[in-house]
Amino acid sequence: MSAPNKSYDPVEVEALKPEEIERMRDEALAAFAAADSLDALHEAKVAHTGPASPLALANREIGALPPHAKADAGKRVGQARGAVNKALAGRQAELEAERDARVLVEEDVDVTLPYDRVAPGARHPLTTLSERIEDIFTAMGYEVAEGPETEAEWFNFDALNIGPDHPARGEADTFFVQGPEGRGESGVVLRTHTSPVQIRSLLQRELPVYVICPGRVYRTDELDATHTPVFHQVELLAVDEGLTMADLKGTLDHMVQSLFGEGMKTRLRPNFFPFTEPSAEMDMLCYVCKGDSVGNPDRPCRTCSSEGWIELGGCGMVNPRVLTACGVDPQKYSGFAFGFGIERMLMFRHNVEDMRDMVEGDVRFTRPFGMEI
Ligand code: DAH
Repeated sequence: MSAPNKSYDPVEVEALKPEEIERMRDEALAAFAAADSLDALHEAKVAHTGPASPLALANREIGALPPHAKADAGKRVGQARGAVNKALAGRQAELEAERDARVLVEEDVDVTLPYDRVAPGARHPLTTLSERIEDIFTAMGYEVAEGPETEAEWFNFDALNIGPDHPARGEADTFFVQGPEGRGESGVVLRTHTSPVQIRSLLQRELPVYVICPGRVYRTDELDATHTPVFHQVELLAVDEGLTMADLKGTLDHMVQSLFGEGMKTRLRPNFFPFTEPSAEMDMLCYVCKGDSVGNPDRPCRTCSSEGWIELGGCGMVNPRVLTACGVDPQKYSGFAFGFGIERMLMFRHNVEDMRDMVEGDVRFTRPFGMEI
């Protein structure tokens, strides 16, 4: 082993000469200053601070110096490397800030510019309202039931206690798809209401039955501001032991409170439907004036025409004849049902004045209702 060379002077090592180290440092600083992009700076960084950079190579020479020379050379190289790293970090921060500022400008979007992309569609408010109503009831344990839109006359009328001579069965109201083939046979109609789904549910399901049935229905009406030949209804049916009109009333109140807010309620007015006994017309408190407009000419209400109540649909206790037609023992079971039109509810819930807007399929109508899912 050879002894360290005591006379070895760092100055004699070319790479460790003070002017050399200064030159390396200055070259690095100049390269960083000249780098005009982060990529260029990265290249300069590799060249001037990487393992093959002049300063790194000079640093390696220090190890071979005699102890007394090491400190001096180490200090100079260390200072130079410190200055280089500092300059590098400074330039890096500068270039990053420049880039961020540029990105902000370049990627700025003028949201007021007209756009030429095809606008996405929007879900139809009838669909979202119908689903919202379904949600209220599925949360209470009801199941969603569906039935066909072309329906046997028996389901649409007979089983619902709507006799052969009932005016609703005439061609003035009903679209017939196929007449009865022979006497006593059932023809096929486009269903005029969602009530036949009550019959299908009672025949297909185990008791007790709690179903909510949304769907499309058809009547021979001309399209105008308040009528459409194709519209939507929601039907509800509950058949269980011991159900009473009080259960019906509580269910209706819960529905209008869920849809229109606290403090809402319904009222029942006697009426007649062949499939319910007793039957009632159901009204809900006007959700705009809450009844305050009644007898108060200073505060008229357009939504309810100052009546205080809005007519919603029909309801009642399921007629025992309907239960019997479906093989359900009316001595043991009772039920309640209601049905109403979704178009009508959408009209007063959102102040839609013309029903034609709902059927035309123009997204300018649907879009303001949002993309509610
Ligand atoms: N089906 C009736 C109609 O279309 C509405 C209705 C009334 C449904 C009373 C019911 C009910 O379930 O109990 O006019």
